[in-house]
Formats: sequence, C-alpha cells, structure tokens
Amino acid sequence: MEIKVVQGSIQEYSADTIIVNLFEGVTVPAGAAGIVNQALSGAIGEMVANGDFTGKLNEVGVLYPRGAIPAKRVLVVGLGKKSEFNQEMARRAAATAVKKARDLNGKSVATVIHGSGVGAMPVLMAAQATAEGLLLGLYEYAAPRQKNEPKNKIESIAVVEYDATKLADIQAGVKVAEAIAVGVYLTRDLVNMPPNVATPTKMAAVAQEIAEAHKMALTVGDVEWAEQRHMGAYLAVAKGAGESPKFIVLEHNAQRQDLDTAVIVGKGITFDSGGISLKPSEHMDEMKSDMAGAGAVLGAMKVVGLLDLPLHIVGIAPCTENMPDASAYRPADIITASNGTTIEIISTDAEGRMVLADALVFAGQYKPRAVVDLATLTGACVVALGEGIAAGVFCNDERLQGKLTASGEATRERLWPMPLWDEYKKSIRSEVADIKNSGGRYSGVGSSAIFLKEFVDFPWAHVDMASMALIERGLDASYVPVGGTGFGVRLLVDFLRNW
Ligand code: BES
Ligand code: MN
Ligand code: ZN
Repeated sequence: MEIKVVQGSIQEYSADTIIVNLFEGVTVPAGAAGIVNQALSGAIGEMVANGDFTGKLNEVGVLYPRGAIPAKRVLVVGLGKKSEFNQEMARRAAATAVKKARDLNGKSVATVIHGSGVGAMPVLMAAQATAEGLLLGLYEYAAPRQKNEPKNKIESIAVVEYDATKLADIQAGVKVAEAIAVGVYLTRDLVNMPPNVATPTKMAAVAQEIAEAHKMALTVGDVEWAEQRHMGAYLAVAKGAGESPKFIVLEHNAQRQDLDTAVIVGKGITFDSGGISLKPSEHMDEMKSDMAGAGAVLGAMKVVGLLDLPLHIVGIAPCTENMPDASAYRPADIITASNGTTIEIISTDAEGRMVLADALVFAGQYKPRAVVDLATLTGACVVALGEGIAAGVFCNDERLQGKLTASGEATRERLWPMPLWDEYKKSIRSEVADIKNSGGRYSGVGSSAIFLKEFVDFPWAHVDMASMALIERGLDASYVPVGGTGFGVRLLVDFLRNW
C-alpha cells in the first residue's frame, strides 16, 4: 500500500480514523494531540485526567468526536516513556494503532509521525519507522481457503504533518519504508507458503521477477550447472530431493566495476525433513521455514532494486529440499565440496552447512569486501538465544561485525555475537576426511560456524537465524505477525545502506 504524505492540520483531515500520540505521564497534550484535544473540547485531557489512558507504549484510547472534526474516531496511541523512546517504539506504536483502526472497521486512516515532535527524533528516521510500523503491521498472509473470514481492510493511509519544512524528509523516509515493506512482505509470503508451493522452482521464479523488474543479472543453476562447478556438497543434499534444485544468483549493478561488492547468501532448504537422518515428526512442519535465509536474500534484493542502491550487490540462494530417498546422501558418505575439501557425513540433517559451503566458495569469485550469510542453521542457536529474541552472529572481521550489530539494533533484528574460536575445530576433525559435518551434542553452535569458516577467505559474517524465521507466539514487536517474520530483510537493507 502507498502512504500519502500531506501537509495540513490532522484534525481537519477527512479520514474516518485519525491517529495521534501521547508519551507516558503527559497530562497536558501538546503538538497534534494538543490541537485535536482542543478541537474535541478537552476530551483527550479528560481521558488522561480520569486515569483511563496513561500513555504506556501500545495503549490505545478511542474517542468519538461527534461532528467536532471530520473524522469518525480518534485513536490516541501511547508512546511509552520519553526516555525509552526510539525507532522501535515508533514502529510498535504505529502498528498497534493502525491494527486497532482496522479492527474497528476503519477504511481510511490519517496519522501523525511518531517521534518527530516531542520525541525529538530526526524527522526522516521517525517517518521511516512510523511508515514501517504501519505497513508491516497490516501484513496478512493470503491463506488458500475456499472461504476466508471477512476481515476489514484499510484502504488508504495518509501521514499528515503541519510543519511544511519537514515534508521532504517525511516523504523520503516513507519512500524507504514502502520499499522495505515490499521486500518484507515478499519474504513473509515465501516463508508462510507450504513447501509444496515454495519450492526451489518457485524461488527461482521470484528471483526472475526481481531480475526483470530491476534489470539485475540472474543465474539459475540446475544440477548440471552445479556439477560443472563441482558443487559436491550442495549436490549431495539435492540428491534425495523430488523437487529440482535451483542455485540462484541475482546481481545488482553487475556491469559496474567502480562499486564496492557485497555478497549476501541465504540458506534455501525449502523443506528440511532431515533426510536419511530423519527428524521426529513432531514440529517437522516448521521446517518449511528452512528457506527463510534465501527468502530474506530475495526480499532484500527486491528492496535493493527498488532503492537502486549504489553498490555492486550479489544475492546467492542455494535452494533444494532435504529428503530421504533411495538416492539420498547418507551418513558415512564422503563428499567433496567445490574448493576440494572432503566432508564426512555424520548427519544428513546438518545439510544447511553443506549447501552454504559451496555457496560461500562461489561467493569468493566476486572478491567481495563483505559476505553475509543468513541461515536457519542450528536448533542449538534457538536454545542459546530463545525464540524471537535474537539471531547469533559469527564474524571474522571486527568492523563488519560492528556494522552488522549496529544495523541489528537500529532495525531490532537483533544479533548476538558468538565465537569462531579455533578450538571448535577439534569437534569437526574426521578420521576419514578433511572434516565432518557435525560435531556432536556439545558443539551445536560452535561447530556449525567453524565448519563454514573452512570455505571463506574474505570478510564474512554468518547469521544463524533459526530462532527468528517463524514464530508461534506474537512478539512485543506488534509489527511482526505470527508465522513468517521476514527476519533479515530490514537488517540486510540497513546494513547495505550504511556500510
Ligand atoms: N534446519 C535445521 C535447524 C533448525 C532447527 C532451524 C530449529 C529452525 C528451527 C538444521 O538443518 C538442522 O537440522 N540442524 C541440526 C544440526 C545437527 C544435525 C548437527 C540441529 O540443530 O539439530
Ligand atoms: Mn537439518
Ligand atoms: Zn536445515
């Protein structure tokens, strides 16, 4: 959805629902809330004085103007404590308020920018955060039901600002947020789709749409293509698959020699049954989300195209299913990756590192200044950091790690540093090959990253996002729905814009 940016007084704007805000503890509404309060003969102040509304983050007060202004209803959303306010709170407040408007059958919404007034945030930043909250909060997955429950849909959103000098920055922030929302929606959709729909072929079709829309170079490698490149590790996982594997490479500004190169890589296991090392059937359905890293790469590349970022950016998504089959790879097999490293298979369920191994070797040819891979790699990382809290980041370059974690904070797609110590190498030492693909019970987190490190010779960060791709319970972040979160798109885009 497009967000209209309008100069004017919000109380005069004709939308059925208008949204203003208040910080916690404020008794005399100021700014837009103050003007609306006046127009409603002090109704907002009275709501606060009576203790019906305190301004806590995500609290929503509903008032009925009864003809005093064009709007049918006024929503006052709490921004929480001023001292704790930042972009994240703006996103949350915006999402909470607009979802409330939707649930009250609002069709047209006008809102202020949260944080640009008393919040004293840079206008551009506040506008981007508010618009992200509005758009990401309204996401819904179109489930293929014969009859969907009728649910109200918001038809138009306007951001209204009185101060004309702020308009250009607001417009710029909203434009960025709109592009980001397109990417996040795409990724959420791909993760939410069932694994018989979001197949490697589907991922390739999405990549092709992106390539065509934004004039990117595209390679979709099939089995033969991967064989020519000796991608034994990737192909081993693909051997048992019924769906044809697709090794996707999208390149933005492919012809430009003058730009810095960044490569983003995403694990694209469209369904992870575990293969011959079959997973227990309970929760196996969640493994439809094992392509969330690849989904995030495609979503981020979509945003890269929309914003036409001035970088040479390569998006790599090695996609395949991991299935048991008579031709599937087995425990005890020894596989040769594209850099010649031999790998003893301990578990066919440690397939993510196999497909990433060849993808990382492939990334090296671009002589990248940075490579970031995103992968739903280990259950151990979920145990370590908790569902929906943070992803783990393993990095061989301090500056890169600093930039990434800063983007993690700004976007609230948080990253927590994990070690890449050489001591973990012992756990993947093999008697019969260079390395083995699993380090056993006590090195779940450490051995996965140290395995990947065998395949890189460039500044590199590995993001284990197993805890972030698909969530069952709603987060504090009201703009993140249950199901596919779209994790990684905002992180990658913020990183690429600021790196
Ligand atoms: N895709 C899984 C990891 C995962 C677990 C993602 C939970 C999301 C939620 C991965 O391929 C896997 O199976 N990892 C194994 C590795 C082990 C066999 C070394 C794991 O974590 O148990
Ligand atoms: Mn697995
Ligand atoms: Zn997996």
